[in-house]
Amino acid sequence: MKNSRRNFLTSVSMLAAYSAFPMSAFNFETSKKLRIVLVGTGVRGTSFWGKRLVDEYSDILEFVGLCDINPGRLEYAKKYIGVNCPTSVDFDALTKKTKPDLIIVTTVDAVHHEFIIKGLESGFDVLTEKPLTTDETKAQAILNAEKKSGKNLIVGFNYRWSPYSTKIKELLANNTIGKITSVDFHWYLNTHHGASYFRRWHGEKEHSNSLWVHKSTHHFDLLNWWIDSDPSEVYAYGDLNFYGSNGPFRGDNCRTCDHKKDCAFHYDITKDKRMMELYVANEKHDGYIRDNCLFRENIDIYDKMSAQIQYANQVTVNYSLTTYSPFEGWRLAFNGTEGRIEAALDIPYNKKTEISQAEMHAKEMEQNALEEANSESIIVHKLWKNFDTVLVPTERGGHGGGDKRLHDKIFKTPNEKDPYERAAGSRDGVMSAIIGIAARKSIESGAPIKIASLTDIKPSANRT
Ligand SMILES: NC(=O)c1ccc[n+]([C@@H]2O[C@H](COP(=O)([O-])OP(=O)(O)OC[C@H]3O[C@@H](n4cnc5c(N)ncnc54)[C@H](O)[C@@H]3O)[C@@H](O)[C@H]2O)c1
Repeated sequence: MKNSRRNFLTSVSMLAAYSAFPMSAFNFETSKKLRIVLVGTGVRGTSFWGKRLVDEYSDILEFVGLCDINPGRLEYAKKYIGVNCPTSVDFDALTKKTKPDLIIVTTVDAVHHEFIIKGLESGFDVLTEKPLTTDETKAQAILNAEKKSGKNLIVGFNYRWSPYSTKIKELLANNTIGKITSVDFHWYLNTHHGASYFRRWHGEKEHSNSLWVHKSTHHFDLLNWWIDSDPSEVYAYGDLNFYGSNGPFRGDNCRTCDHKKDCAFHYDITKDKRMMELYVANEKHDGYIRDNCLFRENIDIYDKMSAQIQYANQVTVNYSLTTYSPFEGWRLAFNGTEGRIEAALDIPYNKKTEISQAEMHAKEMEQNALEEANSESIIVHKLWKNFDTVLVPTERGGHGGGDKRLHDKIFKTPNEKDPYERAAGSRDGVMSAIIGIAARKSIESGAPIKIASLTDIKPSANRT
């Protein structure tokens, strides 16, 4: 394939609607290699948006710059990704010098907006990791910048691309259960994956808003896409009952802790070469401690969360997120006027074989790895009939195979029509993050929050 300088479509109608037609946000035109600057060279930036792109797409793209606040991590990133481009802690100077086509943003969540806005204002297209941003003021500023710039913004929602999520979308879009009326969606993080969020910046609202935004943005994006409508109101509860100051003891970090023997969560980072090189070797530059104590007092996010979401098309959703479950998995049910769809992934009691939760977490974190193909079931139960089981081939790792499909769509087959409309633009980014933003506001105020009160996007009954 010869490629690839892409030129996003910039029709006035699309911009006015904040990338309401996200297909066009992936519309590349090809003539020379796509020039990329990556900002945020942590684990996601160096692996999924770094090394994987170099390994798989070097014929059509090239890195022309890497940026991070940590100069040590930048040097490591250059070697790990396998590039020889300029690196800098100064984003403005780097982009001025290198004039990229595309900025990829993989920093800590709370600063995504800085690089999205600067990138758009400087005339570059931008691809950001989820969540788009962490509060409504930043969300509005991003929308304004996109509209003014005429450039485009892609949000890397990989969960939509897993075959299992796509099958659910297909069943719903085909009206398999008539009109959807209500949804139950419950997500369980185990004490490996769930705990990992409390060890670092995700555990503090100022960096992540909370898992309502950092983690649940994935789930809310799926809901918005499956239900095919915008959220209109959110009422939520949440608390910190398990991690943070609830712990029986605490230390400075796992390496130096006096409670190594007593703590079920003890994490020996020294056994992981990559984590040592990426984080520990560079602590001296910015004080970022990767094996922080998950019982530290300054953790202020919620570890159990529950919300009711009303959609503009009258669908109601019961959602919850638990962060200290003995297993990792999720359960979902759609009720419709003609029946019910039930879906679930990774519930150990539904499996014939036992899965080690630690091994499962490690596989998921190896962001390039795909495990052997498997199959998972979705139950379709029409009113007055016996249920049917729909088998879906799935892959473990890289978010059920979603990661790879997302990359291929962006870099290899951007012009291919997608009947499921899995590509996500700024509007999708805002409408998923905003549910979490509203949920936290609801907990803090004790009141339901109207989505229309947060940005200038008016919830629409029908997204498409
Ligand atoms: N889609 C997914 O499944 C998925 C998975 C993992 C992470 N992510 C997202 O990727 C992003 C990065 O996550 P991570 O796990 O790699 O985190 P990380 O902590 O490993 O990396 C974040 C990097 O950002 C840098 N940084 C912080 N502030 C900065 C600033 N002002 N300017 C430049 N660099 C700055 C840090 O030094 C660090 O290198 C997050 O937004 C996260 O939500 C998405």
